[in-house]
Amino acid sequence: MVKHIIKCGDCLELIKEQEKASIDLLVTSPPYWAKRIYNGSGELGSEPTPEEYVKTLADYFDTFKPYIKKTGNLFINIGDTYFGSGAGAWNKYVDDNGDITQYQKERKEKYFTLKPLQPKIKQNGRLYQNKQLLLIPSRFAIEMQERGWILRDDIIWHKPNRIPASVKDRFNNMYEHVFHFVMAKSYYFDLDSVKVLGANGKMKNPGDIWAINTQPLDGDHTASFPEKLVEQIISCASPENGIVYDPFMGTGTSWIVSDRLNRNFIGHEINQGFCEYAKDRVEKTSRGENIAEIY
Ligand SMILES: C[S@@+](CC[C@H](N)C(=O)[O-])C[C@H]1O[C@@H](n2cnc3c(N)ncnc32)[C@H](O)[C@@H]1O
Repeated sequence: MVKHIIKCGDCLELIKEQEKASIDLLVTSPPYWAKRIYNGSGELGSEPTPEEYVKTLADYFDTFKPYIKKTGNLFINIGDTYFGSGAGAWNKYVDDNGDITQYQKERKEKYFTLKPLQPKIKQNGRLYQNKQLLLIPSRFAIEMQERGWILRDDIIWHKPNRIPASVKDRFNNMYEHVFHFVMAKSYYFDLDSVKVLGANGKMKNPGDIWAINTQPLDGDHTASFPEKLVEQIISCASPENGIVYDPFMGTGTSWIVSDRLNRNFIGHEINQGFCEYAKDRVEKTSRGENIAEIY
């Protein structure tokens, strides 16, 4: 029987309650830069520049590092942002103190906004130019390498069901990155658990391009990752009865999949509404025989 510990609060604080070197797999999708407001003032993703976001995000994983086993794995799903998209919209949602405005409070989607939210940055004719794809995932991966993490895979999560964009002067973006980092040259990895049938009838490595449809949920949540994506990761990157950790749990996708695959799960989520939502979701899908402690 596996056990799940769910805590509602800031993962940077909550992780300190965890035993050092105990986590087998950290799998997560953090807030992307300038995409949505989840909670308001000073939250991750609202940094004034992409460079500051990359450093702050890497700081989070440095904080989590001592709690992951030396032979453990880290999988991070992250998407990119275009410079200037929706620039100025930010002020509608956050006031000068960084607090959520009345306009945002009255919006239908309580926590997520649908419009891109970019802080105003003066164009500089270099990185900061309207229409520029900022390559934030690549910048983040390089920052992590500089801090000593070993990058093993840059998996492309291809979304075949992506809605066509209205853009006329570039291609529709159909993918996000999933980076696989480790700390040691030898680490836990069960490739056999995810092999697929090849044309010659033999089982083969599934490769690093994963075509998985997005999985929309009911309600206000638009940024959950699909169960299939997490299933593939948890299967190969953590042992049965091992510990899976998601510091940015959101609607609880990694919790549901960990439960199904017989892994212990630790989930942190700063937004009370999402914690409740995740709990309801898990109650509907769980086999009900596992223990969950929710704080
Ligand atoms: C992209 S969403 C995660 C979605 C999740 N993968 C799912 O399937 O629903 C990022 C989440 O991180 C949460 N978050 C942001 N900063 C946090 C922090 N410091 N501690 C814990 N959660 C945080 C947000 O509230 C949001 O729910």
